[in-house]
Amino acid sequence: MEENKIDARSQGSFPMDDPTQGLLHDHQFVRQLLQRYLSTQDQKVKQYAGPKICETLLQHIRLEEAVFYPAVEKLDAAMITRCLDDHHAADELIEQIQSLSPGESACDQLMQQLNDVIQAHMELEEQQLFPLVRQSSLNLQDLALRMQSYESSMVSAKAKSSGQRTARGDQLH
Ligand SMILES: [Fe+2]
Repeated sequence: MEENKIDARSQGSFPMDDPTQGLLHDHQFVRQLLQRYLSTQDQKVKQYAGPKICETLLQHIRLEEAVFYPAVEKLDAAMITRCLDDHHAADELIEQIQSLSPGESACDQLMQQLNDVIQAHMELEEQQLFPLVRQSSLNLQDLALRMQSYESSMVSAKAKSSGQRTARGDQLH
């Protein structure tokens, strides 16, 4: 299957000396999915890529807001405020996208808006924030460990809740 060619960063693969590499990996994954969604008329591709974009971005946003931004905020508080504004805009667009079916024309327009917000946001992080973090005297090993552990807890909470949904679904049939 074509979609198997790209996949999200596998859990627990934050390089210990540079946590920004793990975030960068997520960015590349989202870029590929957005490009795929926006460049096709194939509804099957949109039905795969649309939910995957939303899910990956939401998890990435929560990880940054819960662990990464608080740890690096003191390096440039104004930049983090801008990043949080971008996240807020992305969150609102994702909520609207998730209320529609992938491939609906309204959904395609929202996905284009999400693309514009997220591409600019990723560029800001990659060109300004991440270099600042790498050059700082912050304990990057400690930060990478905390990010890894937060991500693991999100992944297991998600697996648990989807397991519960499946169990409830089974009872209905
Ligand atoms: Fe971000």
